[in-house]
Amino acid sequence: AAFAQDGIPEPTPHSQVAFDPEVNFTARWTRADARQIEAMSDPTVPAGENSLPPWLTMPDIDAGFPETNPDVWVWDTWPITDMAANQISFQGWEIVFSLTADPHAGYAFDDRHVNARIGYFYRKADIPASERPANGGWIYGGNAFPDGASAKIFGDIPMTHNPEWSGSARIVNNGGKVSVYYTAMAFNRTPEGQDINPAVAVLARTDGHLHANHKGVWFTGFDDHVELLRPDGFYYQSGEQNPFYNFRDPFPFEDPAHPGKTFMVFEGNTAVVRGARACTEADLGYAPDDPDREDLDEVMDSGAIFQMANVGLAVATNKQLTKWKFLPPILSANCVNDQTERPQIYLKDGKYYLFTITHRHTYAAGVDGPDGVMGFVGDGIRSDFEPMNGGSGLVLGNPTDLNGPVGTPAMQDPTQNPRTFQSYSHYVMPDGLVTSFIDAVGPRRGGSYAPTVRIEINDTLSVLDADYGVDGLGGYGDIPANIAIPRKGPK
Ligand code: FRU
Repeated sequence: AAFAQDGIPEPTPHSQVAFDPEVNFTARWTRADARQIEAMSDPTVPAGENSLPPWLTMPDIDAGFPETNPDVWVWDTWPITDMAANQISFQGWEIVFSLTADPHAGYAFDDRHVNARIGYFYRKADIPASERPANGGWIYGGNAFPDGASAKIFGDIPMTHNPEWSGSARIVNNGGKVSVYYTAMAFNRTPEGQDINPAVAVLARTDGHLHANHKGVWFTGFDDHVELLRPDGFYYQSGEQNPFYNFRDPFPFEDPAHPGKTFMVFEGNTAVVRGARACTEADLGYAPDDPDREDLDEVMDSGAIFQMANVGLAVATNKQLTKWKFLPPILSANCVNDQTERPQIYLKDGKYYLFTITHRHTYAAGVDGPDGVMGFVGDGIRSDFEPMNGGSGLVLGNPTDLNGPVGTPAMQDPTQNPRTFQSYSHYVMPDGLVTSFIDAVGPRRGGSYAPTVRIEINDTLSVLDADYGVDGLGGYGDIPANIAIPRKGPK
């Protein structure tokens, strides 16, 4: 293998072969695969430097980064797209949705999650990043949904917090009908922040109408919220099986290979009871004679059984896309990582790319990687996905010293790279542009759009485009449309 070195196993062979989306085949991101990240990490860098190769590293974000908006924190962000992930402008405006929270409400940045509301932002289309304000020039439009609309999904169950978590926005027609697919959450917590019952996560949808004039854009609707899916405990882990289950971030799309159907990917976990010794030799993925293979029982004894991420697949069963049924997961990361978040399907040169974000702290014992975005490539939406870049899966990580401690954004280890938490929630856009948000650059916390970067995707490889923008960094929050829906009739 291209990256073979002592102490590093061979990655698992993956054929990329496509299967029918309905069949029971789940590709594995194995421990042997994930250990290829370590194979590319330099064990000799001075403490606190970046041990990862520059071509897989998000360039350093300036600690003096501009705020997107002083009155609203932003994190996970998604543009309005069609079902092929083309980003639309509407009557001359670009529009994005972001998770938002109030920086003046008195809670810390890391407590934003239980207070998250989906907000929207807009700016004039067709202006080069260099001619925009440094922060990207996004105008905050407010909350997308009326207060209390999303909570109605849960009826009268006890809840103290009803945040709106990530998803996607799809334009339904050129008149401006927009469907937002998102995660409706219900937390029931003590005043000290302890869960009284497991949080309830529902993949939901609501429809609204986008309007525009020369001053800006606004929405009507988003009053009625429809429940699409709750975890079934069979393919997707439920709150009864594990109070810390992950189930969120729907991304619907059409697959040119299956016309007439609409699918969605989402974040899930393998449906076992928390702590079950459920990993297999196939999850480890070693050749029987690999000198660097691990023992399955030792891996499970290490606690790796608590890291059981998957990427889910569902298919719509009606034309209105309000009824969905689960299909088996398309990817699992059993004993590898607990979170494969905000998955998306990206088509290029006849290949299907699955991108998903993950954190360093959600890796299982014995495997390691930076906060960032991972990629997997195959011949269809369900295939024996090959992890990109030397079989590792790493596409873009924050500058991180993998030889050093993890820390947290709020309690960073002084010997760690100060940019190890600089950005997160990467979303890969047309032409390989990648948007994300700033979490922490050293002690300075974010809640702002990160600079857009670009990756050059070529078969199983992706390389940071170091010529994009300035030293690889484009405009802050540069999220350009690639398809225009023009205004009809006179202006
Ligand atoms: C990713 C994420 C999403 C979730 C949201 C909650 O940053 O964990 O999976 O929807 O943040 O804030």
